[in-house]
Amino acid sequence: MSPDTPLSSQDRPSPLHRWFPHRWRDHELLDCGGGARLERFGELVLIRPEPRAIWERGMDESQWRRLSAAEFIPTGRTKGQWVPHQSVPDTWEIQYPLHTGKNLHFSLEMTRFKHVGIFPEQGANWDWIAQRMGPGKRLLNLFAYTGGASLAGRAAGAEVTHVDAIKQVVSWTRTNQELSGLDGIRWCVEDALKFSEREGRRGNQYDLVIMDPPSWGLGPKGEKWKLEEQVLRLVSATSKLVAPGGAVIMNTYSGVSPSALENMWRAVLPDAKMEAGELCLRSGTGQVLPTGSLLRLERP
Ligand SMILES: C[S@@+](CC[C@H](N)C(=O)[O-])C[C@H]1O[C@@H](n2cnc3c(N)ncnc32)[C@H](O)[C@@H]1O
Repeated sequence: MSPDTPLSSQDRPSPLHRWFPHRWRDHELLDCGGGARLERFGELVLIRPEPRAIWERGMDESQWRRLSAAEFIPTGRTKGQWVPHQSVPDTWEIQYPLHTGKNLHFSLEMTRFKHVGIFPEQGANWDWIAQRMGPGKRLLNLFAYTGGASLAGRAAGAEVTHVDAIKQVVSWTRTNQELSGLDGIRWCVEDALKFSEREGRRGNQYDLVIMDPPSWGLGPKGEKWKLEEQVLRLVSATSKLVAPGGAVIMNTYSGVSPSALENMWRAVLPDAKMEAGELCLRSGTGQVLPTGSLLRLERP
């Protein structure tokens, strides 16, 4: 083929979507690189490990140190401890302003797993959720953590079912619900896969099914969740829960590529419209930090 031959439609690269949250005022990724991220949550600037940030930092180390209130130092594969550089509160609050004018409130704390109770990049999904949901719509949030997606759906008036394996995490979301001036979310401390398969047997369906499966986890009765072994079962079970005209958001932070997400869903809902790509944060110093893979699907 000569260099001037036009590309056939098959050879043309299909777009990889990149989603960014645009509405944050209480969160900012100030810089990232050198295996870490420097970010502001409200008044508090924190340093956390970020294995995806394999490039050079935009600011020098002395600036990171001067700006930050605390740094998470890992002591094992999943655990570690926070080293304060200044006095830090036990808990504090931030808000996410939805496009509808409503604010989602989150109580944050520095956990020994490096998380603070929010995945800020998910803001890109919350506005999409609030746009699609409304009174009479049903939303199922699986592996729901502190419930940003549940709050966004409920703020729009939807009936929300929130499923997570850890009771304390569900209590944390209840606090966020109260702080956000909301009520009425249905709480389920359950294994997400078991819950989905049972809902399928009952013939229950939802207008939006959201899931963010980790690479491994435990259900409340010790049910083992291992993404690479069970993800197809999860996709098959949840595909039956999507009502006609309904939608799916599937996110993973576990190294599953956007194309792999698309392949799995194409096999179970071949007629659905799909967009797959990366959920990202843009730093103040100009880098794009890819945080995970995301698929959005709409069923005809
Ligand atoms: C990556 S977090 C989800 C983050 C969420 N998308 C957000 O934006 O806040 C994964 C969650 O899955 C939960 N989990 C792990 N294993 C589970 C299981 N077998 N069934 C239900 N939830 C589980 C964990 O407790 C955790 O809250």
